[in-house]
Amino acid sequence: MNVVVKAGTEVPDAFLNDVLSGLSRPQKAIPPHWLYDQTGSELFEQITQLPEYYVTRVEVALLEKTVAALVSDIGRGATVVEYGAGAAVKVSLLLDALEKPSAYVAIDISYGHLLEAVRGIATDYPDLSVSPVEGDFLAGAVAAELPDGGPRVGFFPGSTIGNLSDQQIHRFLTRAGSLLGHESWLLLGADLRKSSDILIPAYDDSADVTARFNKNLITRINRELSGTINIDQFAHRAIWRDDLSRIEMHLESLSDQEFSVAGQPYAMARGETIHTENSRKFTRTALQGLADRAGWRISKYVTDRQEYFALLLLTRS
Ligand code: AVI
Repeated sequence: MNVVVKAGTEVPDAFLNDVLSGLSRPQKAIPPHWLYDQTGSELFEQITQLPEYYVTRVEVALLEKTVAALVSDIGRGATVVEYGAGAAVKVSLLLDALEKPSAYVAIDISYGHLLEAVRGIATDYPDLSVSPVEGDFLAGAVAAELPDGGPRVGFFPGSTIGNLSDQQIHRFLTRAGSLLGHESWLLLGADLRKSSDILIPAYDDSADVTARFNKNLITRINRELSGTINIDQFAHRAIWRDDLSRIEMHLESLSDQEFSVAGQPYAMARGETIHTENSRKFTRTALQGLADRAGWRISKYVTDRQEYFALLLLTRS
């Protein structure tokens, strides 16, 4: 296994800045990646197993069914670059479908995630060169050195793209293009628009796991930034914004209240919210536009029968 390339930002300062500035806005908002500390990541894993959260189940089934056809034009000896080192099960499906892949590069902001991802893959694929790269691929270019030769395939599953703004998606797609090079591919998972009757329970489940995932951000602020926020005075809200084609997660204040973070005082009125995440639901047209603007072309596009989820193979060639 190669050494970890450290390209991450200083987490405490970045977290502090995002929270202090986010709580000072008229619509309070904290970027969604701060939901993922150790507990948040464990809760997200639980979310992926929930009966209401169709996203992971549908994507994995779609990958199993279509990945061989999706990657059939990609030549042998590919380097696979996974953005956000995820569950080994998804990348294994990709690696198994490719002809003799030569290298796997896992990029993640969290060292813990990276180790987990690369350990399993290195054991399962002894002939594969495995490199963990610690870095925030959304904040800046990641200093990863990819091996020469063979096709390059980026992998960004899970519809994490839906948690980004249009500008962040553009930046991600452009940077992925620069890193992967001219004749490269990008396999992307994207959750599609569907009835709010399906979407709301997926983000507000009956076991309250998503509520705990959202509220864990308060626990994290209290612990890491000397916050004095009373978690019991907040409720989890999942709202479908049809006009913006996205689920929004908020933490809603249940009373008029005051608290401080790192000594900075804040007040919230009853009903006021902290916006913690967007989860965009795409149309094919929207995905096409995002790909086009960043210099990618949709080479293959597949969905499940209900058209809940799409896998896109993008190419620059
Ligand atoms: C990681 N991401 C794709 C999840 C989603 O569905 O947007 C995060 C999530 N938030 C609440 N439930 C799941």
